[in-house]
Amino acid sequence: MRRGIILAGGSGSRLAPLTLAVSKQLLPVYDKPMIYYSLTTLMLAGVREVLIVTNPHDETAFRRLLGDGARLGLRIEYKPQASPDGIAQALILGEEFLDGADSVVVLGDNIFFGAGFADLLQRASGRAAGATVFGYSVVDPQRYGVVEIGPDGKALSIEEKPLKPRSRHAVTGLYFYDGRAPAIARSLKPSARGELEITDVNRVYLDAGDLTVERLGRGYAWFDTGTHDSLMEAAEYVRAIELRQGFRIGCVEEVAFQMGFIDADQLRALAGEAPKTGYHRYLRQLADGEI
Ligand code: DAU
Repeated sequence: MRRGIILAGGSGSRLAPLTLAVSKQLLPVYDKPMIYYSLTTLMLAGVREVLIVTNPHDETAFRRLLGDGARLGLRIEYKPQASPDGIAQALILGEEFLDGADSVVVLGDNIFFGAGFADLLQRASGRAAGATVFGYSVVDPQRYGVVEIGPDGKALSIEEKPLKPRSRHAVTGLYFYDGRAPAIARSLKPSARGELEITDVNRVYLDAGDLTVERLGRGYAWFDTGTHDSLMEAAEYVRAIELRQGFRIGCVEEVAFQMGFIDADQLRALAGEAPKTGYHRYLRQLADGEI
């Protein structure tokens, strides 16, 4: 069974003073904490065992929010990261938790939405060997990892924040790996910015001919909420869809129910935890088959 890792550490310095007392991945994105969105991404991929990597001083707050995951039919563990030494370090910190299993790593500040996303995730999850990353066309690729895709859909090159990007395809913060990933992460040297780069892990797979790139086309929304404006844009997007359609995005209880991790009675019990909120009314309607 594939296991998941959520990166919920980092200094959050770009969002200060918002992040001086609260972890970035606990900030609200419209009606729920940011980490709900990345957690539902993992759950839609079928993952039930999750490791959350946090700053040492934020672990308690994440535990208060999500506990051991049992109420969602999950098993959640926590691992402190002493200092934010790079995304790939999470694979090393998570090596024991992964115990040789295939993994899916998601950045806790990345939000995905689009029809057919769950199918795409399950297809990536079903690939036994190699790694899968997702390319998303953006106007400012130099801010991201960038993947160049050949005519046959195969990756030609992958670079971290290149000054002269070879394509418009940003690599999103969602990565599927086979059991080799922790050993690859351990073999890396820190980059010029002093971090173990996830792009360097992906390049090892690319050089071995084992990197698949899935394109997230124009029907998908992808936000990383790293700046005040992108945080606001993501919240506005979620609000617009939720108000118009009445469906929620990133609702952990709903996805647990949809995926069969909990049953209708368990969902009804969760809805009863705060009966007066619209969020909990929504859970009750789901449990009663009204939505
Ligand atoms: O959002 C996608 C981009 O994320 C990719 O295109 C890049 O290839 C990838 O390197 C990453 O770039 P960023 O510069 O945006 O990463 P950032 O340092 O902001 O970290 C992303 C999240 O991971 C953030 O929520 C904090 C968390 N993090 C980061 C580091 C470096 C950790 O939990 N621990 C860390 O050591």
